[in-house]
Amino acid sequence: MTIVAFVLGSLLAICLIRLAAAGKARRAAELAAKASSAAEQAARREVAHLVAALAGASEGLLVLDAEDRLIANNPAAEQLAELPTPAHGRRLTELIDWPSLHKALQTARSSGEPQVADIDDEITGRSLVLRVRALPGFGAVVGLDDSSQLRRLESLRRDFVANVSHELKTPLAAIQGFVETLQDDAEMPEATRQRFLERIARQTERLKTLVHDLLTLSRLDDGRVGTAEPTDFAAVVRETVRDLHSLADKQRLRFAAEGSDIAAWVAADREALRQVAGNLIDNAIKYTPAGGQVRVVLQRREGRAVLEVIDTGIGLAPEDQARVFERFYRVDRARSRDAGGTGLGLSIVKNTVKGLGGEIGVRSELGHGSTFTVELPLTPPPAGEAGG
Ligand SMILES: Nc1ncnc2c1ncn2[C@@H]1O[C@H](COP(=O)(O)OP(=O)(O)OP(=O)(O)O)[C@@H](O)[C@H]1O
Ligand SMILES: [Mg+2]
Repeated sequence: MTIVAFVLGSLLAICLIRLAAAGKARRAAELAAKASSAAEQAARREVAHLVAALAGASEGLLVLDAEDRLIANNPAAEQLAELPTPAHGRRLTELIDWPSLHKALQTARSSGEPQVADIDDEITGRSLVLRVRALPGFGAVVGLDDSSQLRRLESLRRDFVANVSHELKTPLAAIQGFVETLQDDAEMPEATRQRFLERIARQTERLKTLVHDLLTLSRLDDGRVGTAEPTDFAAVVRETVRDLHSLADKQRLRFAAEGSDIAAWVAADREALRQVAGNLIDNAIKYTPAGGQVRVVLQRREGRAVLEVIDTGIGLAPEDQARVFERFYRVDRARSRDAGGTGLGLSIVKNTVKGLGGEIGVRSELGHGSTFTVELPLTPPPAGEAGG
């Protein structure tokens, strides 16, 4: 937008110079012809300079003469409008097949008002915003802006808000239901009353987790992943394994950790690392039926700390593997919700890992198990500590 405004301002100035020159020309015919053509050439040179200055801009720019022939454009316009070569000197109607652009040009000319048009290309799936401005006595300029990315983000935001509202509504409706029943039934036996209170407590806990996860995500969206002090990832993995051992025992799983006796220093906040290891191990335990196995393997490899969480659980189909890192994505909503899941765990892990300059991946086979891998860049240990 600022680019187009800048260019339009410059072009208007050029036009004024040219018109002034033409005015003098009326007073002296011979001089006028020279002045006019000199002004025109100067104007074209200026346009060429302006467009060259916009070579790196992501917004496209087309400059047309009074007969709608293309005088100049920047590379972004060439790409966005898929211009054929050669394009200069040819009429716009031969170059671009967008009726709304031609209509906007006509209206801009007849009304003198700037026009805006939208193009939705169904074949490429691209959305463009066109800004058209006619310059009397010169021609016109067209700015092209790719709004596809913006549209995608808007649609993601809408989905996110809808998901959050839904996730908040479910426990709230349940709490409301229990409270109303308690209020309505003064004679309720003590045991039933206790059961209702426990359910309210469980749903409240769920709401708390959800809000906590949402806050974590919004912190990560701001690019805040904690301090860059060196932290021993191995020590964090050891602690997490210890904390989750009873959960694995309850599920009757074999649970083993390998390699966390090494030191693996990474520049990351302890809490961020705990989230990464905790979410992956928690998932492996949650999605592995009794009798299965969960292995946690930490290695140092080519300047990176590599954590693998390997389970023999329910596994993931290929189409789900691509989507599990999305916010709120759960393969089996009911099962995950029963297990207390919000569907935010893996997106928190992914954002954290990305924020720390690392990578995350999954290999899985439906019905056989999954391996989630996280790689984080190693950093030298703090003074006085061994290993790196
Ligand atoms: N190890 C695994 N094996 C099979 N499926 C998994 C595994 N880990 C994650 N999934 C699938 O990916 C989905 C998303 O995982 P994620 O950790 O983001 O959410 P969640 O576990 O449902 O809830 P929470 O927010 O409590 O972690 C899960 O619901 C589950 O369907
Ligand atoms: Mg999870």
